[in-house]
Amino acid sequence: MTTTYRIAVLPGDGIGAEVTPEAVRVLQTVGKAAGLGFEFESALIGGAAIDATGGPLPPATLALCKRADAILFGAVGGPKWDHLPQEQRAERGLLALRKDLDLYANLRPARCFPMLVDASPLKRSVVEGTDIMVIRELTGGLYFGEPRGVSREADGSARGVNTMVYTSREIERVARVGFDVARKRRRKLASVDKANVLVVSTLWREIVTQLGKEYPDVALEHVLVDNCAMALVHKPTQFDTIVTENTFGDILSDEAAILAGSMGMLPSASLNHAGAGGKTVGIYEPVHGTAPDIAGKGIANPIAAILSAAMLLRYSLDRPTDADRIERAVFQVLEQGHRTGDIAARGEKAIGTKAMGDLIVQAVEIQY
Ligand code: IPM
Ligand code: MG
Repeated sequence: MTTTYRIAVLPGDGIGAEVTPEAVRVLQTVGKAAGLGFEFESALIGGAAIDATGGPLPPATLALCKRADAILFGAVGGPKWDHLPQEQRAERGLLALRKDLDLYANLRPARCFPMLVDASPLKRSVVEGTDIMVIRELTGGLYFGEPRGVSREADGSARGVNTMVYTSREIERVARVGFDVARKRRRKLASVDKANVLVVSTLWREIVTQLGKEYPDVALEHVLVDNCAMALVHKPTQFDTIVTENTFGDILSDEAAILAGSMGMLPSASLNHAGAGGKTVGIYEPVHGTAPDIAGKGIANPIAAILSAAMLLRYSLDRPTDADRIERAVFQVLEQGHRTGDIAARGEKAIGTKAMGDLIVQAVEIQY
């Protein structure tokens, strides 16, 4: 009997709608070759959902996600919805979904592909050999802390508040993911904070240090976030696994993306490791966002979405060898010299989203 997995597909806005179908095709190819059944069901999120239903996360979408074994996500947002009040914007759909499913651990690998070293704006001598896993806390901190809001004073002036708040429980569970992931990599964990200024960071540091005693085989260091931002572009190879709070992780993971040559290469997984029966609920999405400047042109790089599908197999479906095959296929297609615009060197020929998807599908087929 074949196992059937239910995959919720949420393409969203901008290039999300262009790259997600390529990731679906790759999963279908794996399904056929490996004898896995996939049931794909699409739903609206973000701006597309606002236009159709008035809100960024329709109840039907949330219900579908809760039933699914995993969620394949594109991207949300765009200039069309930027005028809306903060609480109604397209991005809220994604934030609400992360919160509702309690996906507190966001894994963002940033690996410098050897054949793309020259696509990075940084020098070869700096980026070569970079292989970092950024683990970003995703359901707490400044993004969700209370109180928050803008109040108007009697004299017409205004006051805006966001709060960075973490409980020891929230810190411990994401730090544990950090140690567990580091253990499967090069056993080095950098915990990033701002403990020279923020009390919440002091608490973070204490909890992580305490937990580190359970992981004597992992080398733990504490790095201040400003210093980490500098070190990432100065000597990125010094890092293996990074664990940090929500906003710091948002910023540092964009920075780390440059090390991989292009944002178009970076996948991510948002996980809740405490899923029932050991099952890991997860959203799998490219880090690049909607890229309004190139949306609708068919030129976006589908590799981040396709590598996100590989992460889906690895973390939610426990199919690591199928994930390896997708990663190998991507590697081979790049080795053969095929490039989308974002990773093409000057003068190099660039192919479109579908053409890159086709090549990777073919390369996946021959892995079986
Ligand atoms: C990301 C994005 C999101 C975030 C936005 C789209 C809400 O920047 O996933 O990094 O800030 O988390
Ligand atoms: Mg971001």
